[in-house]
Amino acid sequence: METDFLVIGSGAAGLCFALKAARHGKVTVVTKGEMNECNTNYAQGGICSVTYEPDTFEKHIRDTLVCGAGKCDPQAVELVVRRAPELIRDLIEWGTRFDKTPDGRFELNREGGHSEHRILHHEDLTGAEIERALIQQVKSHPNIEVREHHFAIDLLTQHHLGEFVTRHTRGLACFGAYVLNLDTHEIETILSKFTVVATGGCGNIYNSTTNPVVATGDGIAMCHRAKAVTENMEFIQFHPTSLYNPGERPSFLITEAMRGFGGILRLKDGEEFMKKYHPMASLAPRDVVARSIDHELKIHGEDFVYLDITHKEPQAIISHFPNIYEKCKSIGIDITRQWIPVTPAAHYCCGGVKVDTNGESSVKRLYALGETSCTGLHGANRLASNSLIEALVYADQAARHAVSRLESVHIQEGIPDWDFEGTQHTEEMLLIIQSKREMQQIMSNYVGIVRSNLSLKRAMRRLEILWLETEELYNKTKPNRQLCELRNMITVAYLVIKQGRARKESVGTHFSTDYPQATYTE
Ligand code: FAD
Ligand code: SIN
Repeated sequence: METDFLVIGSGAAGLCFALKAARHGKVTVVTKGEMNECNTNYAQGGICSVTYEPDTFEKHIRDTLVCGAGKCDPQAVELVVRRAPELIRDLIEWGTRFDKTPDGRFELNREGGHSEHRILHHEDLTGAEIERALIQQVKSHPNIEVREHHFAIDLLTQHHLGEFVTRHTRGLACFGAYVLNLDTHEIETILSKFTVVATGGCGNIYNSTTNPVVATGDGIAMCHRAKAVTENMEFIQFHPTSLYNPGERPSFLITEAMRGFGGILRLKDGEEFMKKYHPMASLAPRDVVARSIDHELKIHGEDFVYLDITHKEPQAIISHFPNIYEKCKSIGIDITRQWIPVTPAAHYCCGGVKVDTNGESSVKRLYALGETSCTGLHGANRLASNSLIEALVYADQAARHAVSRLESVHIQEGIPDWDFEGTQHTEEMLLIIQSKREMQQIMSNYVGIVRSNLSLKRAMRRLEILWLETEELYNKTKPNRQLCELRNMITVAYLVIKQGRARKESVGTHFSTDYPQATYTE
């Protein structure tokens, strides 16, 4: 099968690219589940854009740089912040509804690390509203074909023409992907002029995460295998406040916007402990809050702290956070009268596939967008609600760039179909599930909010065993979703540990007890 633009993933990044590129050529979107199974659909707090005074681009830029702890790429920060209002207008044109105040102005949230209210939102279900509008547009576009239940396994490069390639091979390019049709179990060869990897994050490498089950880092692993450069993988952001509800996966998020609305973090005895750690107290940058909670939990031997919003007017709480109100009520907590038990959970991958300002990776004709990519915007710690806007801005950049080269690029010939020789259907599902649990345990125990040289070394040793066993199984097995995801998660976990071991400092979300003095000060 041939297409101009192959888009892997149907979250905000993939669908926004598809809509922009479809004005100029044929777009094929493949996604491994239903279209709305993605991190985008779960986003609560909202999407950043400078909207009204006294906010300014300069303030948003500064907040992003401070939160990123000196590791942001200033060019990426400028680009996203200054182009944000334009992309918000596109979203609204596509039918996204953001909440407004009675006088018709947009109602803006504030979250940790922000010096101003600048987060547009739709109740506490912003991502679902954005995804709804994008899906509606994509489904009615004549130039876009969507294939649900299609799992991308690997990207096609000169390697598939029999050439020996490395990360340093000149002119390395991407020609499409092998995609497993999950209904027929056939592997399709999809050839494209341009390939966009927008497969989201990798929260499922940990045993507690806010990410839905689809977030298994497939795109990062695929790009790594295709010899694209990845970076900043050690900067895994933990959200400080996921609902403490043992056994629930994914962990339900209690949006940071609740702290922007006045919510206060407390210990069991009521102490407002964040005052000890940061002048912004409960609204400090996310890495500081997550680490402080982790510290308090270890001191007191507890599993959770509390978020208290009971001092606010009940009707205001319910109208701002209807989804959270209902969820908590369903497990017996009335948030207008009771404190909410919360605990940190793996939430966002600040690193990923290294891209330039066009969203293009080190492999030509291969773009990485959204959470899969590392644009340099987030540095060592993402500012809350900066990721959706990053996905949209870079989708637009990438579409412009690819479209400008559409006429000069041709579909590659000579790519062979998938070779099934020597492989069989697996009967080892239990082993795959067990290995996944072990990997999640290794990452949570040794590569969590606080790390050390020893814990990272231990993690790598244990992961190596899982890697060897999984490769052995993969080589004799007809690909299936569970095995491919496990293989990808192990690859991503390896990158997190390897890049973590190379970072000899504590900065942002990467905190090592061997370097207790944080290297960044404002
Ligand atoms: P996703 O939306 O995750 O989409 C990835 C897509 O790729 C999915 O469709 C998936 O099925 C598909 N896919 C994956 N692997 C394959 C494969 N092998 N083959 C085919 N398809 C594949 N950010 C904000 O800015 N504001 C917020 O308020 C906010 N709140 C959040 C709340 C929660 C609970 C979570 C989990 C995240 C939140 N984030 C928020 C982060 C933000 O939602 C994500 O970073 C962003 O939505 C990522 O968009 P994306 O398009 O890159 O990936
Ligand atoms: C939240 O609503 O707290 C999540 C926001 C984000 O991750 O950007």
